[in-house]
Amino acid sequence: EAEIFTYDPGFMATASCHSAITYIDGEAGVLLYRGYPIEQLATKASFLEVAYLLLYGELPDERQLLAFEEAMARHSMINENLKGFLGGFHYDAHPMAILVGVVGSLSAFYHDSLDINDPQHREASALRLIAQVPTIAAAAYKHNVGEPIVYPRNALRYCANFLHMMFATPCADYKPGLIAEKALNLLFILHADHEQNASTSTVRLAGSSGANPFACIAAGIASLWGPAHGGANEAVLDMLEQIGDVSNVPKYLDKAKDKDDSFRLMGFGHRVYKHYDPRAKIIREVCHQVLEELADSNNPLFELALRLEEIALSDEYFVERKLYPNVDFYSGIIYRALGIPRNMFTVMFAIARTVGWVSHWMEMMADPNNRIGRPRQIYCGPTHRDYLPISQR
Ligand code: SDX
Repeated sequence: EAEIFTYDPGFMATASCHSAITYIDGEAGVLLYRGYPIEQLATKASFLEVAYLLLYGELPDERQLLAFEEAMARHSMINENLKGFLGGFHYDAHPMAILVGVVGSLSAFYHDSLDINDPQHREASALRLIAQVPTIAAAAYKHNVGEPIVYPRNALRYCANFLHMMFATPCADYKPGLIAEKALNLLFILHADHEQNASTSTVRLAGSSGANPFACIAAGIASLWGPAHGGANEAVLDMLEQIGDVSNVPKYLDKAKDKDDSFRLMGFGHRVYKHYDPRAKIIREVCHQVLEELADSNNPLFELALRLEEIALSDEYFVERKLYPNVDFYSGIIYRALGIPRNMFTVMFAIARTVGWVSHWMEMMADPNNRIGRPRQIYCGPTHRDYLPISQR
């Protein structure tokens, strides 16, 4: 234990908070959820087992998991009045715009009865959010495609339920394939939490003022949408289609290296990982399996992504700066193979990260020493000066 958890004082001096949820070692490419290596959880656990682990700190036993799954089913329907709100969006509103708006509006349904100082109220809010975000996400997709909302099915497992809400219609039921459910389960686990990233820090900062959890998670969704953060998975597909063919890779790598060019290699680089993102390694493997099983093994975008990685990692610009593929580099290729449209990729990230966001919110709110966050700045504006009447300016 000592060799993993010996923090250097410098690190502790800059740490924004103490947390027992997720541990990252960016140099070694280590990611632990409550001490469990992501590689083990990704291939052995269900997403709800991992959600329970992140929320409560321990893997559930059978009775606890059953109760958690039942709570998810019980809370998965959204208030029927939200259909009116959803219907008010333009048909082609980006699903992330719908998600941030509708999740924030959940405050209106629970705000008056919610006492965030009551641990049971906090837990009920957390369960409602984990259960309802997939329902809202699928409803956003249905709004985009002009189909009626599909209600959750309590008998289906979490990932299968989401796929059913996405692709079933009143005219034709939809039975999610096992490979799709397994792939989604793994992707949700890999995206569930990642320590104090931009969106999780946003949730913590919003929550530190005592704001209600629905508004805090809406703030996290807004932050995740940025292309430098969760929006990168959608941007990677745009980039691969823009590159088009492996013969164009050198030209685009030159653009990525050019300081005067705004083009960046999307899905590459990370604030913390200065080695291969362990999640990207797992997703690349799953890509092979999913495309194989979906008889799409010669997927041109995947082939291009593999060659792009190979060429970039032999280029000193990327090697010197320790820029490796991150969690967003390959995930969109799997989502696309599962029939998820590109504008839903970051929504998928938000569904999974809701578990991490509410876990950090719960951890922070349970801390009796929790105080309002108040980042400071280095002031670089004008020194003191006196007001001048406009005739003298
Ligand atoms: C996520 O924080 C988290 O944990 C986030 C996340 C999570 O799970 O929550 O892991 C999810 O957000 C992953 C990141 C997804 N974003 C992208 O893939 C967008 C492309 N990546 C870059 O925008 C960038 O790498 C960032 C935003 C991820 C990190 O930016 P930094 O911290 O500024 O990068 P850095 O300090 O490592 O940069 C060092 C050098 C700089 O050049 P120099 O000034 O040294 O000449 O590398 C350059 C950067 O300009 N660089 C890139 C690059 N990323 C960094 N150059 C080209 N392409 C890139 N992608």
